[in-house]
Amino acid sequence: MKLSSIIMAKFDFSKRESFGSKFGIIAAAAGSAIGLGNIWRFPYIVGENGGGAFLIIYLFFVISIGIPVMLSEFAIGRGAQRNPIGAFKKLAPGKPWFLVGIMGVGAAFMILAFYTVVAGWTLEYLYQSVANGFKEKTAEQIGEMFEHFRTTYRPVMWFLVFMLFTAGIVISGVKKGIERYTKVLMPILLLILIVISVRSVTLPGSKEGLDFLFKPDFTKITAGTVLEALGQAFFSLSIGMGTLITYGSYISKKENLTTTAVSVTMADTFIAVLAGIAIFPAVFAFGIPPASEEGLVYKTLPIIFQKMTGGYYFSLLFFILLGVAALTSTISVLEVIVAYFSEELNISRKQSTWLGTAAVAVLGVFASYSSGVFSFLNFTSASILLPLGGLLIVMFIGWYYGKKKTREELTNQGTIRVVIFPVYMFLVKFLAPIAIAAVFLYGLGVF
Ligand code: TRP
Repeated sequence: MKLSSIIMAKFDFSKRESFGSKFGIIAAAAGSAIGLGNIWRFPYIVGENGGGAFLIIYLFFVISIGIPVMLSEFAIGRGAQRNPIGAFKKLAPGKPWFLVGIMGVGAAFMILAFYTVVAGWTLEYLYQSVANGFKEKTAEQIGEMFEHFRTTYRPVMWFLVFMLFTAGIVISGVKKGIERYTKVLMPILLLILIVISVRSVTLPGSKEGLDFLFKPDFTKITAGTVLEALGQAFFSLSIGMGTLITYGSYISKKENLTTTAVSVTMADTFIAVLAGIAIFPAVFAFGIPPASEEGLVYKTLPIIFQKMTGGYYFSLLFFILLGVAALTSTISVLEVIVAYFSEELNISRKQSTWLGTAAVAVLGVFASYSSGVFSFLNFTSASILLPLGGLLIVMFIGWYYGKKKTREELTNQGTIRVVIFPVYMFLVKFLAPIAIAAVFLYGLGVF
């Protein structure tokens, strides 16, 4: 082949893959949404920020903003059948909307780099659980274990192992990789979480934990809490950067996008609440003050497993749960990068996967050792790029793509009814952009 023809060659879009079944779509998309955000982050944030009071605000955002953004991403993806950058180029030719896609692919690199670092810690804790490494250690010693671990070579090693697992699934494709694994992993995740929750709420003294989680404390609600709730909703639902544009592009034209978005959102919220039920009653039953964010899972829980009958097995189950939740999320983020590389640069899925993995690996090594890099990636992606992306996505649908084309896409060219369509259009045109912009600007300290 001549060089010019290699460079000129275009991706053959007729060979684009798609998901094989409704359950496969839900498993993949819920797999993306359900992750460390649900199990590692949500319980702690709820407990700290006023329990039930925070939950109400969170639910309000999930319904009024989360579902509309998710549905918009599905509509863009399925309408265009492209990666996020290609999708905007196709739906808005010659317009600057593709910059939203570029932001999304950029965010994918950043999220993957710090998120997989935390996912890697899970493997160390799984290893320690198997090896019974927490045995007879005091609370301080377990806390020190975590701090010490982070100064060794091991976080980088586990990070790389986790990236390899992720790449191994993505490389096999949409149907044979992502769909096949998420269909098995998601039911396992649900089962483990139910087992742990039952154990947790049946411990004597567990009621205090449920109070911590659910009892509304409105004095804790501040503007900052509201911001936290919106940020958490975006992160937890995997919206705002094109992950669901990418997955949406693999959804068949016959599926109902609206019910899919609602199901995925419900599954994500249910699992987040269930994770809180799995963690807090046990924490309070043993009278241990819950440690902050990362500490809750990596410092507090190992102490509890020490004290609990059958703790060895619950520890194993818990870290398997966390690893599985993280894995079905990391594959969805890597897929954004792979779809982009393979379609826009026209290189094979295999090459795209390795190229993406290598690039993320470099960033991730820095994120592993430097808490400054870690925080920078976390803040820039979760607090800036996701809300900004979400804002632009709903504005794209509401103000550019418009009612007519959006209705065609959501009703499958008029063959199915979408009862909430007028409400959805109102939300994406007015409420969602205004609310996201307000919360976003507040978060940046503009007012
Ligand atoms: N939603 C996942 C979680 O809660 C993380 C995640 C996966 C994500 N893909 C994303 C977050 C895309 C934002 C955007 O753990």
